[in-house]
Amino acid sequence: MSLLLAMTGWHVEDWRARFQALLPDMPIVTLGEPFDRRAVHYVASWKHPEGSLAGLPNLAAVFSLGAGVDHLFADTRLPEVPIARVVDPDLTTRMSEYVVLHCLRYLRQQPRYDRQQIDKSWEDDRDQPAARSVRVGIMGLGELGQDAARKLQVMGFDVAGWSRSAKTVEGLATFAGTEGMTAFLARTDILVSLLPLTPETRGTINATLLAGLAQDGRLGGPFLINAGRGGLQVEADILAALDAGTLKGATLDVFEIEPLPADSPLWTHPAVTVTPHNAAMSEPEAIATLISAQIRRLEAGEPLEHVVDPTRGY
Ligand code: NAP
Ligand code: GLV
Repeated sequence: MSLLLAMTGWHVEDWRARFQALLPDMPIVTLGEPFDRRAVHYVASWKHPEGSLAGLPNLAAVFSLGAGVDHLFADTRLPEVPIARVVDPDLTTRMSEYVVLHCLRYLRQQPRYDRQQIDKSWEDDRDQPAARSVRVGIMGLGELGQDAARKLQVMGFDVAGWSRSAKTVEGLATFAGTEGMTAFLARTDILVSLLPLTPETRGTINATLLAGLAQDGRLGGPFLINAGRGGLQVEADILAALDAGTLKGATLDVFEIEPLPADSPLWTHPAVTVTPHNAAMSEPEAIATLISAQIRRLEAGEPLEHVVDPTRGY
Protein backbone atom coordinates (compact mmCIF):
# COMPACT_ATOMS: atom_id res chain seq x y z
CA MET A 1 0.00 0.00 0.00
CA SER A 2 1.65 3.28 -1.09
CA LEU A 3 1.15 7.05 -1.17
CA LEU A 4 1.75 8.74 -4.53
CA LEU A 5 2.98 12.33 -4.49
CA ALA A 6 1.77 13.97 -7.70
CA MET A 7 2.77 17.62 -8.01
CA THR A 8 4.15 20.20 -10.40
CA GLY A 9 6.08 23.32 -9.44
CA TRP A 10 6.93 22.20 -5.90
CA HIS A 11 10.00 20.31 -4.57
CA VAL A 12 8.67 16.79 -4.34
CA GLU A 13 11.67 15.50 -2.37
CA ASP A 14 10.92 17.92 0.51
CA TRP A 15 7.43 16.46 0.68
CA ARG A 16 8.65 12.86 0.36
CA ALA A 17 11.08 13.31 3.27
CA ARG A 18 8.34 14.78 5.45
CA PHE A 19 5.75 12.09 4.60
CA GLN A 20 8.31 9.29 5.00
CA ALA A 21 9.15 10.49 8.51
CA LEU A 22 5.45 10.54 9.42
CA LEU A 23 4.47 7.29 7.68
CA PRO A 24 7.62 5.16 8.08
CA ASP A 25 5.93 1.91 7.00
CA MET A 26 4.33 3.29 3.84
CA PRO A 27 6.23 3.45 0.54
CA ILE A 28 6.11 7.03 -0.78
CA VAL A 29 6.35 7.14 -4.59
CA THR A 30 6.42 10.00 -7.09
CA LEU A 31 5.35 10.47 -10.69
CA GLY A 32 8.98 10.88 -11.74
CA GLU A 33 9.91 7.23 -11.11
CA PRO A 34 8.60 3.74 -11.92
CA PHE A 35 6.03 2.55 -9.33
CA ASP A 36 3.43 -0.20 -8.93
CA ARG A 37 0.10 1.44 -9.85
CA ARG A 38 -1.89 -1.31 -8.10
CA ALA A 39 -0.18 -0.53 -4.77
CA VAL A 40 -1.25 3.14 -4.74
CA HIS A 41 -4.06 3.64 -2.20
CA TYR A 42 -3.57 7.36 -1.60
CA VAL A 43 -2.56 10.38 -3.68
CA ALA A 44 -1.40 13.77 -2.41
CA SER A 45 -1.67 16.23 -5.29
CA TRP A 46 -0.80 19.78 -6.19
CA LYS A 47 -1.55 20.45 -9.87
CA HIS A 48 -0.79 16.88 -10.98
CA PRO A 49 -0.49 16.47 -14.77
CA GLU A 50 -3.85 15.83 -16.48
CA GLY A 51 -4.70 12.12 -16.56
CA SER A 52 -1.78 11.06 -14.36
CA LEU A 53 -4.11 9.67 -11.67
CA ALA A 54 -6.05 7.46 -14.10
CA GLY A 55 -5.38 3.72 -13.89
CA LEU A 56 -4.86 3.42 -10.12
CA PRO A 57 -7.27 0.50 -9.44
CA ASN A 58 -6.96 0.51 -5.63
CA LEU A 59 -7.07 4.25 -5.05
CA ALA A 60 -9.07 5.10 -1.89
CA ALA A 61 -8.66 8.89 -1.57
CA VAL A 62 -7.04 11.95 -3.13
CA PHE A 63 -5.67 14.70 -0.87
CA SER A 64 -5.22 18.22 -2.17
CA LEU A 65 -1.97 19.66 -0.84
CA GLY A 66 -3.71 23.04 -0.67
CA ALA A 67 -7.01 24.44 0.53
CA GLY A 68 -8.28 24.83 -3.03
CA VAL A 69 -9.35 21.88 -5.16
CA ASP A 70 -9.92 23.58 -8.53
CA HIS A 71 -6.58 22.12 -9.67
CA LEU A 72 -8.04 18.64 -9.11
CA PHE A 73 -11.35 19.26 -10.85
CA ALA A 74 -9.46 20.69 -13.82
CA ASP A 75 -8.44 17.08 -14.59
CA THR A 76 -11.18 15.57 -16.76
CA ARG A 77 -9.84 12.07 -15.95
CA LEU A 78 -9.82 12.52 -12.16
CA PRO A 79 -10.74 9.19 -10.48
CA GLU A 80 -14.09 9.14 -8.68
CA VAL A 81 -12.84 8.67 -5.12
CA PRO A 82 -13.30 10.90 -2.04
CA ILE A 83 -11.30 14.12 -2.19
CA ALA A 84 -10.11 15.90 0.94
CA ARG A 85 -8.55 19.35 1.11
CA VAL A 86 -6.34 21.27 3.53
CA VAL A 87 -8.00 22.85 6.53
CA ASP A 88 -5.13 23.64 8.84
CA PRO A 89 -4.32 26.40 11.34
CA ASP A 90 -0.86 26.98 9.83
CA LEU A 91 -2.30 27.77 6.39
CA THR A 92 -5.26 29.70 7.80
CA THR A 93 -3.00 31.88 9.95
CA ARG A 94 -0.78 32.69 6.97
CA MET A 95 -3.79 33.83 4.94
CA SER A 96 -5.12 36.01 7.74
CA GLU A 97 -1.68 37.64 8.09
CA TYR A 98 -1.81 38.49 4.38
CA VAL A 99 -5.33 39.92 4.55
CA VAL A 100 -4.68 41.98 7.68
CA LEU A 101 -1.35 43.24 6.30
CA HIS A 102 -2.88 44.53 3.07
CA CYS A 103 -6.00 45.99 4.70
CA LEU A 104 -3.73 47.87 7.11
CA ARG A 105 -1.52 49.01 4.19
CA TYR A 106 -4.56 50.62 2.59
CA LEU A 107 -5.93 52.00 5.86
CA ARG A 108 -2.56 53.59 6.71
CA GLN A 109 -1.97 54.73 3.07
CA GLN A 110 1.37 52.93 2.91
CA PRO A 111 1.55 52.71 -0.93
CA ARG A 112 1.40 56.52 -0.96
CA TYR A 113 4.21 56.87 1.62
CA ASP A 114 6.32 54.38 -0.32
CA ARG A 115 6.01 56.66 -3.37
CA GLN A 116 6.71 59.77 -1.29
CA GLN A 117 9.88 58.18 0.11
CA ILE A 118 11.16 57.47 -3.41
CA ASP A 119 10.52 61.16 -4.22
CA LYS A 120 11.99 62.33 -0.83
CA SER A 121 8.71 64.18 -0.40
CA TRP A 122 7.50 65.06 3.16
CA GLU A 123 3.76 65.64 2.88
CA ASP A 124 2.34 65.62 6.37
CA ASP A 125 -1.23 64.41 6.33
CA ARG A 126 -3.56 64.89 9.29
CA ASP A 127 -6.49 63.06 7.65
CA GLN A 128 -6.03 59.52 8.94
CA PRO A 129 -9.21 57.41 8.90
CA ALA A 130 -9.87 55.16 11.89
CA ALA A 131 -10.17 51.43 11.22
CA ARG A 132 -13.72 51.51 12.56
CA SER A 133 -14.69 53.88 9.74
CA VAL A 134 -13.40 51.53 7.02
CA ARG A 135 -15.73 48.81 5.77
CA VAL A 136 -14.06 45.55 4.73
CA GLY A 137 -16.15 43.04 2.76
CA ILE A 138 -14.95 39.46 2.59
CA MET A 139 -16.23 37.35 -0.31
CA GLY A 140 -16.11 33.74 0.87
CA LEU A 141 -16.93 33.15 4.52
CA GLY A 142 -15.38 29.71 4.85
CA GLU A 143 -12.39 28.56 6.87
CA LEU A 144 -10.17 31.37 5.61
CA GLY A 145 -12.76 34.12 5.32
CA GLN A 146 -14.07 33.67 8.86
CA ASP A 147 -10.60 33.66 10.42
CA ALA A 148 -9.58 36.77 8.45
CA ALA A 149 -12.84 38.46 9.52
CA ARG A 150 -12.13 37.81 13.21
CA LYS A 151 -8.60 39.17 12.97
CA LEU A 152 -9.70 42.26 11.03
CA GLN A 153 -12.28 42.91 13.74
CA VAL A 154 -9.54 42.76 16.36
CA MET A 155 -7.82 45.56 14.41
CA GLY A 156 -11.06 47.53 14.59
CA PHE A 157 -12.30 47.30 10.98
CA ASP A 158 -16.04 47.27 10.22
CA VAL A 159 -16.27 43.82 8.63
CA ALA A 160 -18.97 42.07 6.59
CA GLY A 161 -18.96 38.77 4.72
CA TRP A 162 -20.65 37.28 1.69
CA SER A 163 -21.18 33.58 1.03
CA ARG A 164 -23.30 31.21 -1.04
CA SER A 165 -25.55 30.11 1.84
CA ALA A 166 -26.87 32.45 4.54
CA LYS A 167 -24.78 32.52 7.72
CA THR A 168 -24.97 33.93 11.21
CA VAL A 169 -21.55 34.85 12.57
CA GLU A 170 -21.42 36.72 15.86
CA GLY A 171 -20.43 40.35 15.40
CA LEU A 172 -20.35 40.12 11.61
CA ALA A 173 -22.74 41.61 9.05
CA THR A 174 -23.48 38.77 6.62
CA PHE A 175 -24.89 38.66 3.10
CA ALA A 176 -25.57 35.69 0.85
CA GLY A 177 -26.19 34.75 -2.74
CA THR A 178 -26.81 36.94 -5.76
CA GLU A 179 -29.64 38.65 -3.86
CA GLY A 180 -27.25 39.80 -1.13
CA MET A 181 -24.47 40.93 -3.46
CA THR A 182 -25.62 44.51 -4.23
CA ALA A 183 -26.03 45.53 -0.58
CA PHE A 184 -22.75 43.81 0.34
CA LEU A 185 -20.77 45.66 -2.33
CA ALA A 186 -22.43 49.00 -1.54
CA ARG A 187 -20.99 48.87 2.01
CA THR A 188 -17.50 47.73 0.99
CA ASP A 189 -14.41 49.99 0.97
CA ILE A 190 -11.89 47.12 0.85
CA LEU A 191 -13.07 43.99 -0.97
CA VAL A 192 -11.23 40.82 0.06
CA SER A 193 -11.74 37.80 -2.18
CA LEU A 194 -11.32 34.41 -0.54
CA LEU A 195 -13.67 32.45 -2.79
CA PRO A 196 -12.89 29.06 -4.28
CA LEU A 197 -12.76 28.85 -8.08
CA THR A 198 -15.80 26.93 -9.33
CA PRO A 199 -17.91 27.14 -12.49
CA GLU A 200 -20.19 29.53 -10.51
CA THR A 201 -17.48 31.86 -9.22
CA ARG A 202 -15.30 32.12 -12.34
CA GLY A 203 -15.09 35.75 -13.51
CA THR A 204 -16.96 37.11 -10.45
CA ILE A 205 -14.58 40.06 -10.03
CA ASN A 206 -15.58 41.87 -13.19
CA ALA A 207 -16.63 45.36 -14.29
CA THR A 208 -20.16 44.96 -12.90
CA LEU A 209 -18.95 43.89 -9.47
CA LEU A 210 -16.32 46.64 -9.30
CA ALA A 211 -18.90 49.26 -10.28
CA GLY A 212 -20.99 48.22 -7.28
CA LEU A 213 -18.31 48.96 -4.65
CA ALA A 214 -18.77 51.94 -2.33
CA GLN A 215 -17.44 55.25 -3.65
CA ASP A 216 -18.38 57.21 -0.52
CA GLY A 217 -15.97 55.61 1.96
CA ARG A 218 -13.26 57.11 4.17
CA LEU A 219 -10.47 55.85 1.91
CA GLY A 220 -11.71 58.02 -0.97
CA GLY A 221 -12.64 55.02 -3.12
CA PRO A 222 -12.56 51.23 -3.01
CA PHE A 223 -9.64 48.78 -2.95
CA LEU A 224 -9.46 45.11 -3.96
CA ILE A 225 -7.46 42.25 -2.42
CA ASN A 226 -7.75 38.92 -4.26
CA ALA A 227 -6.06 35.96 -2.61
CA GLY A 228 -8.65 33.39 -3.77
CA ARG A 229 -7.89 32.34 -7.34
CA GLY A 230 -6.91 34.18 -10.52
CA GLY A 231 -9.86 32.70 -12.41
CA LEU A 232 -12.17 34.74 -10.17
CA GLN A 233 -10.92 38.01 -11.67
CA VAL A 234 -11.18 39.66 -15.08
CA GLU A 235 -7.85 41.47 -15.18
CA ALA A 236 -8.81 43.77 -18.06
CA ASP A 237 -11.79 44.99 -15.98
CA ILE A 238 -9.61 45.58 -12.91
CA LEU A 239 -7.12 47.61 -14.96
CA ALA A 240 -9.95 49.61 -16.57
CA ALA A 241 -11.45 50.44 -13.15
CA LEU A 242 -8.02 51.48 -11.80
CA ASP A 243 -7.41 53.71 -14.81
CA ALA A 244 -10.89 55.22 -14.48
CA GLY A 245 -10.22 55.92 -10.78
CA THR A 246 -13.29 53.96 -9.65
CA LEU A 247 -10.92 51.44 -8.04
CA LYS A 248 -8.10 53.03 -6.03
CA GLY A 249 -5.79 50.05 -5.71
CA ALA A 250 -5.52 46.29 -6.04
CA THR A 251 -3.40 43.69 -4.26
CA LEU A 252 -3.36 40.48 -6.23
CA ASP A 253 -1.79 37.19 -5.14
CA VAL A 254 -3.42 35.14 -7.89
CA PHE A 255 -3.73 35.65 -11.64
CA GLU A 256 -5.57 34.48 -14.75
CA ILE A 257 -2.23 33.02 -15.91
CA GLU A 258 0.45 31.96 -13.39
CA PRO A 259 3.28 32.76 -13.26
CA LEU A 260 2.12 36.26 -14.21
CA PRO A 261 3.48 36.85 -17.75
CA ALA A 262 6.30 39.41 -17.97
CA ASP A 263 4.26 41.56 -20.36
CA SER A 264 1.26 41.86 -18.01
CA PRO A 265 0.49 45.54 -17.28
CA LEU A 266 -0.27 44.48 -13.69
CA TRP A 267 3.48 44.24 -12.97
CA THR A 268 4.05 47.95 -13.49
CA HIS A 269 0.70 49.57 -12.72
CA PRO A 270 1.31 52.14 -9.93
CA ALA A 271 -1.85 51.12 -8.07
CA VAL A 272 -1.24 47.37 -8.16
CA THR A 273 0.65 45.19 -5.69
CA VAL A 274 1.64 41.77 -7.03
CA THR A 275 2.57 38.79 -4.85
CA PRO A 276 3.50 35.39 -6.32
CA HIS A 277 0.58 33.19 -5.17
CA ASN A 278 2.02 32.70 -1.72
CA ALA A 279 -0.53 34.46 0.49
CA ALA A 280 -0.92 31.16 2.34
CA MET A 281 1.64 28.62 1.24
CA SER A 282 1.36 24.94 2.12
CA GLU A 283 4.21 24.37 4.54
CA PRO A 284 5.35 20.70 4.17
CA GLU A 285 5.68 20.01 7.90
CA ALA A 286 2.15 21.20 8.74
CA ILE A 287 0.37 19.84 5.68
CA ALA A 288 2.09 16.42 5.63
CA THR A 289 1.17 16.06 9.31
CA LEU A 290 -2.49 16.80 8.49
CA ILE A 291 -2.62 14.36 5.55
CA SER A 292 -0.77 11.60 7.43
CA ALA A 293 -3.35 11.90 10.20
CA GLN A 294 -6.09 11.59 7.56
CA ILE A 295 -4.47 8.40 6.19
CA ARG A 296 -4.20 6.95 9.70
CA ARG A 297 -7.91 7.75 10.22
CA LEU A 298 -8.86 5.85 7.07
CA GLU A 299 -6.63 2.91 8.02
CA ALA A 300 -8.40 2.81 11.41
CA GLY A 301 -11.81 2.73 9.68
CA GLU A 302 -12.66 6.29 10.68
CA PRO A 303 -14.23 8.80 8.27
CA LEU A 304 -12.15 11.24 6.25
CA GLU A 305 -12.30 14.90 7.32
CA HIS A 306 -12.58 18.00 5.10
CA VAL A 307 -14.11 16.12 2.19
CA VAL A 308 -15.13 18.32 -0.74
CA ASP A 309 -18.39 18.12 -2.68
CA PRO A 310 -17.64 17.49 -6.36
CA THR A 311 -21.04 18.83 -7.40
CA ARG A 312 -20.31 22.23 -5.74
CA GLY A 313 -16.66 22.15 -6.77
CA TYR A 314 -15.34 23.14 -3.32
P1 NAP B 1 -14.10 27.13 2.15
O1 NAP B 1 -13.96 26.89 3.61
O2 NAP B 1 -14.63 26.05 1.29
O3 NAP B 1 -14.97 28.46 1.97
C1 NAP B 1 -15.43 28.88 0.73
C2 NAP B 1 -16.40 30.02 0.93
O4 NAP B 1 -16.77 30.53 -0.36
C3 NAP B 1 -17.69 29.59 1.63
O5 NAP B 1 -18.12 30.58 2.51
C4 NAP B 1 -18.66 29.45 0.45
O6 NAP B 1 -20.02 29.67 0.79
C5 NAP B 1 -18.19 30.58 -0.43
N1 NAP B 1 -18.65 30.36 -1.81
C6 NAP B 1 -18.40 29.32 -2.63
N2 NAP B 1 -19.05 29.47 -3.80
C7 NAP B 1 -19.74 30.63 -3.70
C8 NAP B 1 -20.62 31.33 -4.55
N3 NAP B 1 -20.94 30.86 -5.77
N4 NAP B 1 -21.15 32.48 -4.13
C9 NAP B 1 -20.86 32.97 -2.88
N5 NAP B 1 -20.03 32.34 -2.01
C10 NAP B 1 -19.48 31.20 -2.42
O7 NAP B 1 -12.68 27.53 1.52
P2 NAP B 1 -11.42 28.18 2.27
O8 NAP B 1 -10.66 27.16 3.00
O9 NAP B 1 -11.89 29.38 3.02
O10 NAP B 1 -10.53 28.64 1.01
C11 NAP B 1 -11.03 29.54 0.05
C12 NAP B 1 -10.12 29.60 -1.16
O11 NAP B 1 -8.93 30.31 -0.87
C13 NAP B 1 -9.60 28.27 -1.69
O12 NAP B 1 -10.57 27.58 -2.44
C14 NAP B 1 -8.44 28.71 -2.55
O13 NAP B 1 -8.86 28.98 -3.86
C15 NAP B 1 -7.98 30.01 -1.88
N6 NAP B 1 -6.65 29.90 -1.28
C16 NAP B 1 -5.66 30.69 -1.76
C17 NAP B 1 -4.39 30.63 -1.20
C18 NAP B 1 -3.29 31.52 -1.64
O14 NAP B 1 -2.14 31.32 -1.23
N7 NAP B 1 -3.56 32.53 -2.45
C19 NAP B 1 -4.15 29.72 -0.14
C20 NAP B 1 -5.19 28.95 0.31
C21 NAP B 1 -6.45 29.03 -0.26
P3 NAP B 1 -20.79 28.70 1.81
O15 NAP B 1 -20.22 29.03 3.17
O16 NAP B 1 -22.21 29.09 1.67
O17 NAP B 1 -20.49 27.29 1.37
C1 GLV C 1 -3.28 27.63 -2.33
O1 GLV C 1 -3.50 28.31 -3.26
C2 GLV C 1 -4.22 26.72 -1.75
O2 GLV C 1 -5.27 26.44 -2.35
O3 GLV C 1 -3.95 26.23 -0.64
